[in-house]
Amino acid sequence: MQLSVDEELLKSFETVYRLNDGREVVFRPLKPKEDVEMLYQFYSTLSKEKNYFRFLSYRKVTRWIVEEWANVNYDQSMVLVAVVDNGGERKVVADSRYYLDKSTGAAEIAIVVHNDWQHKGIGTNLLLHTIKVAKEMGVKKLYAYVSSENRKIASIGIKLGFTTKWYPDMGEYGGELILNK
Ligand SMILES: CC(C)(COP(=O)(O)OP(=O)(O)OC[C@H]1O[C@@H](n2cnc3c(N)ncnc32)[C@H](O)[C@@H]1OP(=O)(O)O)[C@@H](O)C(=O)NCCC(=O)NCCS
Repeated sequence: MQLSVDEELLKSFETVYRLNDGREVVFRPLKPKEDVEMLYQFYSTLSKEKNYFRFLSYRKVTRWIVEEWANVNYDQSMVLVAVVDNGGERKVVADSRYYLDKSTGAAEIAIVVHNDWQHKGIGTNLLLHTIKVAKEMGVKKLYAYVSSENRKIASIGIKLGFTTKWYPDMGEYGGELILNK
């Protein structure tokens, strides 16, 4: 795979978020080969509900699929992971990603935080960081399809400046969160 984004720029997308208890969570671009195992552990241990809200229908997670999800080029497809160090063992605890349509400058964004690490501000702050990275990468608009039952992401999105557009006809595919920059 050929990268179209240089290492220095990627390094500048790394930041540390500190939890209330003092622990550090590193937000950084995913390393496609190195991080596959951690990413597989993350996705394969998510609850069914998290999986459903993330994908809008339950998705079976296989090693092969996770390898596909790890195959990013940072230019069109960007993934930022939240990584913790658990006594020497590194773990992915959240995944935030967007996919850019270069012809429109709009990117679809999606985020998921592991059950064991929710309600610690990781979702809000990783999303905020992803917005910052997207802006620096020239993304003009971010949008996310969300379930109408997913009030939590709607509330976080609105706090961060997204507008909502609900589609009653879409049933469980409730609507879109949109951020124009
Ligand atoms: C939606 C989701 C990303 C939120 O992640 P999260 O890390 O739990 O989110 P946060 O901790 O930032 O915010 C959740 C709550 O914690 C609170 N919180 C924020 N910072 C906090 C902190 N430092 N300590 C404790 N709680 C905090 C917030 O007030 C927020 O409460 P609210 O929902 O009543 O406003 C997560 O639940 C998830 O992965 N859901 C499944 C996938 C999904 O829905 N993705 C979106 C569609 S693509």
